Amino acid sequence: MIVQRVVLNSRPGKNGHPVAENFRVEEVNLPDCVNEGQVQVRTLYLSVDPYMRCRMNEDTGSDYITPWQLSQVVDGGGVGIIEESKHTNFMKGDFVTSFYWPWQTKVILDGNILEKVDPQLVNGHLSYFLGAIGMPGLTSLIGVQEKGHITAGSNQTMVVSGAAGACGSLAGQIGHLLGCSRVVGICGTPEKCLFLTSELGFDAAINYKEGNVAEQLHKLCPAGVDVYFDNVGGDISDTVISQMNQNSHIILCGQISQYNKDVPYPPPLPPAIEAIQKERNITRERFLVLNYKDKFESGILQLSQWFKEGKLKIKETMINGLENMGAAFQSMMTGGDIDYPPSTASYRKIIALPRGI
Ligand SMILES: NC(=O)c1ccc[n+]([C@@H]2O[C@H](COP(=O)([O-])OP(=O)(O)OC[C@H]3O[C@@H](n4cnc5c(N)ncnc54)[C@H](OP(=O)(O)O)[C@@H]3O)[C@@H](O)[C@H]2O)c1
Repeated sequence: MIVQRVVLNSRPGKNGHPVAENFRVEEVNLPDCVNEGQVQVRTLYLSVDPYMRCRMNEDTGSDYITPWQLSQVVDGGGVGIIEESKHTNFMKGDFVTSFYWPWQTKVILDGNILEKVDPQLVNGHLSYFLGAIGMPGLTSLIGVQEKGHITAGSNQTMVVSGAAGACGSLAGQIGHLLGCSRVVGICGTPEKCLFLTSELGFDAAINYKEGNVAEQLHKLCPAGVDVYFDNVGGDISDTVISQMNQNSHIILCGQISQYNKDVPYPPPLPPAIEAIQKERNITRERFLVLNYKDKFESGILQLSQWFKEGKLKIKETMINGLENMGAAFQSMMTGGDIDYPPSTASYRKIIALPRGI
């Protein structure tokens, strides 16, 4: 059987911006025999995520992710359905997910890399296992719980950068759910700002591409910042940290503004900002969701419960066609488009549903 797959066509270079042409689609033959321990799956949804930028380099700069190889199939978060199983844990028709899912329409996989998922947890929206009820949701939940030091009733103000993204949009909602009295988001378009305040319950939002962020933040956070969920790093984070209170906390989720630069992770703060951090005793510990696997099961149940109770709003961006994975990745890295006010009620996580399957 002929199937389609996406391979790495070229590397953007450690200091380059990724483009759709870094990927190419090709056809390959799928072997017709499934061996013991293997399953044949049909891909339903794939996710594009910022960490993949590091996988485009020859050296990812970290020990927990490996580089993608030129002309080899690209992999990441995926969800699909089992078509044939020779693994004792799975049956035909099971829905499964993996963090190492090849960008390929159908594929034979070692069953040991797969986990079964229960569609009831997401009311049948299987793509949510790649977003709010998956890795980004767990990142937001566990990040806030482990590093946010939120105490309900203590009048804390939370600021979230990258606030309209997969992690950020959930982190702000979770901040409220766990007891922050005020949540302010920072993101890149007026539509995203509107989406945060009118749909997700953020108290205010700042478009960092317009006006003076420091002044707006000062006005919108009159009591200073107690918790900062940092997705972006760079100038935005320096501005937020300057307005953080004594004994406050940074959740160091990601630093996307630095991913197209050859700098170590996490990038060191500029000396003046580091001085503020030390003087005010602001915590800024490295956070990696993969270090909290023991909390995944309970985290998924919590996120699912909030979603079903209507307390956690979820929006996705859905793009059809495996051939659009490269463009989807580029769009996600650069802020993409937001369909808000929505014509199709969709926003966030750019996921491609392979066409013709
Ligand atoms: N620590 C962990 O275990 C863990 C796990 C998952 C993700 N992360 C990190 O969490 C962060 C968010 O990931 P995500 O999946 O939720 O992605 P996302 O926020 O949905 O998408 C990335 C967004 O970042 C914003 N952005 C891009 N370049 C920027 C810049 N130079 N300055 C400010 N904003 C910029 C863009 O939105 P705008 O329109 O707002 O610019 C873009 O859409 C990333 O840094 C990622 O690496 C960490």
